[in-house]
Amino acid sequence: MQIRHKLVEVLSDGQFHSGQALGDALGVSRMAVWKHIRYLRESGIAMDSVKGKGYRLHAPIEMLDADRIVAGLPNRARNRVNSIDVLQEVDSTNTWLRSKALTGAPTGTVCLAEVQHAGRGRRNRQWVSPYAANLYLSILHRTNEGTAGLGGLSLAAGVAVIRSFEAMQIEDIGLKWPNDVMVKGKKLSGILIEVVGESSGPCAVIIGIGINVNMSGLSTESPASSIDQPWTDLVSVCAGKMVSRNQLAAGLIDQVLSALTAFEAQGPQSFLDEWKQYDLLAGKQVDLHLTGNVVSGKACGIDVAGALLIETARGLERFTSGDVSVRLST
Ligand code: BTN
Repeated sequence: MQIRHKLVEVLSDGQFHSGQALGDALGVSRMAVWKHIRYLRESGIAMDSVKGKGYRLHAPIEMLDADRIVAGLPNRARNRVNSIDVLQEVDSTNTWLRSKALTGAPTGTVCLAEVQHAGRGRRNRQWVSPYAANLYLSILHRTNEGTAGLGGLSLAAGVAVIRSFEAMQIEDIGLKWPNDVMVKGKKLSGILIEVVGESSGPCAVIIGIGINVNMSGLSTESPASSIDQPWTDLVSVCAGKMVSRNQLAAGLIDQVLSALTAFEAQGPQSFLDEWKQYDLLAGKQVDLHLTGNVVSGKACGIDVAGALLIETARGLERFTSGDVSVRLST
C-alpha cells in the first residue's frame, strides 16, 4: 500500500495524530509525513493542523476498495466484470484503460482512481479530479458494430448513469445533451466516450464517467475552485447524507454493464424513450456553440443515434457535436 494511502487511512478516524505518531505508524520521517500532508492538501483534502496536536481530517474519507466494490455487485454484474483495478493516482482512467485495450484487455475491464492528474472532459476540457472526493471510473466495452454506432451507445451510457442515481430519489435530475447529468441547473456527472478501432468492425469503447460525490471537505488549495461551470455534488443533493463511493461504484458498474448487454441485444432504440424522459433541453430555445459558429433554435429532442435535433430557420437540423446553452427568455 502506498504511504499516502496509508496516511489517509490512519487519519480517517477523524482524530488528531502528531507528525511523530504518523511517521512511526508509516515507518517514515516527520519531514516525509509533512510532504505527504502537503500533497494531500494540494490535491484537495481539507486538514486541520494544530501545534502540539498534529493533523486531523476535516471530514471522514472512505477510500476506494476493489474488494468492497466487488462485494457490492449483484451476481449478474459479477459475471460481466472482467477485472476491477483501483489506482491510487493516474493521469486519466480513460487513457489508462485505452492503453490496456490496445494490449488486448477484454470487455468488462474496469478501472477507478482516487485522483486524476490529467482528467479529461469532452472537447478537450479538463475534468477537475481532486483526491478521494469523487468517482473517476472507466469501463472497457468491445463491440463489432464499429465507431458508427457510438452515438447510440452514448444514449445507453446516459441512461445507465441516471439509473444508478434512481434509488437516491434526487429531485430535478436530468440529462443535458449530449450526456451531462444535471441537478437544478448544476452539473453532477459527465461522460466521456472514446474509441479505439475501426469505423465498421471490431472496436474497443472506453466509457469514462466522473461523478462529483463530496466536494465539501476540500481544502482551499483544491483544484475544484477552478471549475468553470456551475456544479454540484451528491452529498449536497442528498441533503448532506454520507455517500459510500464503493457502493456508488458498484451500482454504477452494474447499471453500465447491464445497459451495454441490452444495447448489444436490442440496439439504441430501447434507451431512447427513457433518455427523452430526462431531456432537459426539449422544447427550449437554445444556442449550440460549434467551432466558430453558433446555431440557434428550438431543441426538439434527440434521435436514435444520439444527435441533437434543433428547429432552426432552415428547418429541423441534427447535430452530433457542440456545446449547448439554454437561451434566457427576454
Ligand atoms: C464531460 O462532461 O465533459 C465528461 C467528463 C468525463 C470525466 C471522466 S472521469 C473518468 C474518466 N477519465 C477521464 O479522464 N475522463 C472521464
